Order: sequence, then C-alpha cells, then structure tokens
Amino acid sequence: MQIVETGPDDERFAAWCEVWAATQRADRPGEAPRPASDHVALGRRLTTPGGSVAGTHRAAVDDGAVVGALRLLLPQRDNPSVAHLDVAVSPASRRRGIGTALLTEGVRLAAAAGRRSLVAEVDEPGPDTPGRAFARAHGWTCDLQETRRDLLLPVPGERLAALEAEAVAASAGYAVVTWRDRTSDALLDDRALLSRRMSTDAPSGDVPVGEEDWDAARVREQEEVTLARGRTVLSAGALHDGRLVAFTDLHVPLARPERASQSGTLVLREHRGHRLGARVKIAVLRELAATLPAVRRISTYNSDGNRPMVAVNEALGFRPAGRLSTWSTRL
Ligand SMILES: CC(C)(COP(=O)(O)OP(=O)(O)OC[C@H]1O[C@@H](n2cnc3c(N)ncnc32)[C@H](O)[C@@H]1OP(=O)(O)O)[C@@H](O)C(=O)NCCC(=O)NCCS
Repeated sequence: MQIVETGPDDERFAAWCEVWAATQRADRPGEAPRPASDHVALGRRLTTPGGSVAGTHRAAVDDGAVVGALRLLLPQRDNPSVAHLDVAVSPASRRRGIGTALLTEGVRLAAAAGRRSLVAEVDEPGPDTPGRAFARAHGWTCDLQETRRDLLLPVPGERLAALEAEAVAASAGYAVVTWRDRTSDALLDDRALLSRRMSTDAPSGDVPVGEEDWDAARVREQEEVTLARGRTVLSAGALHDGRLVAFTDLHVPLARPERASQSGTLVLREHRGHRLGARVKIAVLRELAATLPAVRRISTYNSDGNRPMVAVNEALGFRPAGRLSTWSTRL
C-alpha cells in the first residue's frame, strides 16, 4: 500500500471521491452520498492560492486501487495552529491499518505546515461507529458532541402559522428579509460580522479552534465556492434599524434537492430573547416551500448544550437522526 498525492485535476481523484461515496452508502444507506463534483469544487478552492482555506489530498493505493482518502484543510486567515482532517477507508478495506497510515500522513503534513492541533469530525448514524473507536484508539479526545435532527417536509401549515405568530409578536421592531445565493452589497459587512460571531458564539465544546476572521470579501468567496459545489443557498435575516442582526442559511444540493441542510443560524447577542431564531427559520421554510418544493427533508446539527436552538428546532418538528462528534489531538 502506498500513499500518493492527489487532487481535483489528478486522474485518481474520481476514485478518491468514490471512497467517500462508498463510506457514506455503508454508513447511511438511505441517503445519496455527496456527489464527486462537490469534492472537486471544494478541492479546487483548497488548492487555488489566495483563498481563506488551503489544503491537500492524499490517496491510499493498494494493488493499483484507491482504497483510502485523506483531506487536510489549513485555515489561512485565522487559526494558524490548527489543521482539519478528513479520513475514510473503503468499507471492504478496513481493519488493515490503512486508516492509521493515512492519519500518520495527516499528522506529518500538518506538522510540516506548522500546525499544532488536528481536528476531525466523526459522523455517527448509530452506536458503535468505527470513527469513534478509531479516534479513541489513536488517543484523540472528544471535544464536542452534537445531535443531528431531521425535519420532514412539508411542515403542517397550522404549526408554522402558530410559531410564526408567537415569533412576530415577540419581535416588534424587526423586519425579515430573504435572499438566495448572493447577499446584497448593503448587508455584506453585517453578514461578515455574523459569520465571525458564529465562530465564537455557537457552542463548540473544547474544540481547539478560535475566532474566524471574516470580511465582505470572504463572504463573497464562500458564496462562490458554494455555488461551484452545486448548491443553492436560501437565506433569511432579521433587520433592526437597517442592520442585519440575525441570519439562517439553508443549503440545497441542486442535483439531489430532496435533502437540504441547515448550515448556520445566529442572532447577535444584543438582539437575543425576541424569538428571532424561530422567525428567520420560519421565513426560510416558507421561501423553501415556495421556490424549491422538491426538498423533502432538512438536517441540522446542534450541540446538546445549545438549549435555545434545540427548542426552536423541536418546536418546528425536527427529530433526532444520529450524532456528530468532533475530536482533536495535539501534535
Ligand atoms: C475510521 C476509519 C477511517 C478506520 O479505517 P481503518 O483502515 O479500518 O483503520 P485501522 O485499520 O487503521 O484501525 C486502527 C484501529 O482503530 C480501531 N478501530 C477501527 N475501526 C474499528 C471498529 N469498527 N471497531 C472497533 N475499533 C476500530 C481499532 O483499534 C484498530 O486497530 P485494530 O484493527 O488493530 O484493532 C474507517 O472506519 C472509516 O472510513 N470510517 C468512516 C469515516 C470516519 O469515521 N473517519 C474518521 C475520522 S477521524
């Protein structure tokens, strides 16, 4: 078995993407895996100089076949001591040390890039996920546990109307706006601040990651990458005195729009307590029903300690559908 460099323009990259698809099909048989085009677009972003995140890819090749995949992400604008790592091994090739070999390579690459912490996520559709046992076996610590919740659409109209009436009554003085894919120039700086706050205010347990450095240009970069990944994004926000003080984003993969994911929701600290989280989520659900009715299910992830957000989601009808854990190690 050899570990070789690969990337979006390498002939092995399709097989590299297939390792992820096979892993997802094995772990969550009812769900379509991420299309290869998504990995390609993300890979291009990582390997194009000047972006806010750089990165590199490695393939584990055994007897000419790609059986394992590693992606290392290196934040460029903030978190200079952190690297994020994704590793997967084809289900048919597991328990032969390939995951360990890729992890060792990831540690070497991260250290060579001057990073001191490595962070990785483990999707846990049920108990006994291999990723958890693997991370433990390598002495990583579990820093954050989140529950995935799914909402089946459509949401009954009465439920939405009742929640909306409560939220509107509690948030007099705030107006709601929605947009798709491109934040208006007028709201761009405010949207950047919301992303910055997202990196500090969303519960992140003991994950060794600090504040992210966001500005208008980075919001635009993110929008472009998301479109290149074949996703459309519906957003809703709350305005106070013309300033954007809350947002929610919903990502829909255009090739397979059945399943959307709620990517981020935040209300600025000084505007909390007015049910704005519920208000923007309801606004985006209404927009979704009107413009993308093919979406059947929305997934969202919340830390178990994030009571306000979990309460909003439960009231909307989101129900538990597995877990996601975040692990780290010091180099
Ligand atoms: C986690 C994963 C990468 C492991 O790949 P692998 O090639 O099977 O890993 P290794 O053979 O190097 O396993 C190393 C050790 O991890 C532990 N381990 C791995 N899979 C395990 C499982 N299913 N049950 C219990 N322990 C397990 C064992 O201690 C194992 O050593 P052993 O085989 O000598 O007992 C693979 O299962 C996978 O792709 N899972 C889905 C993606 C994922 O969760 N990635 C983890 C991100 S950190």
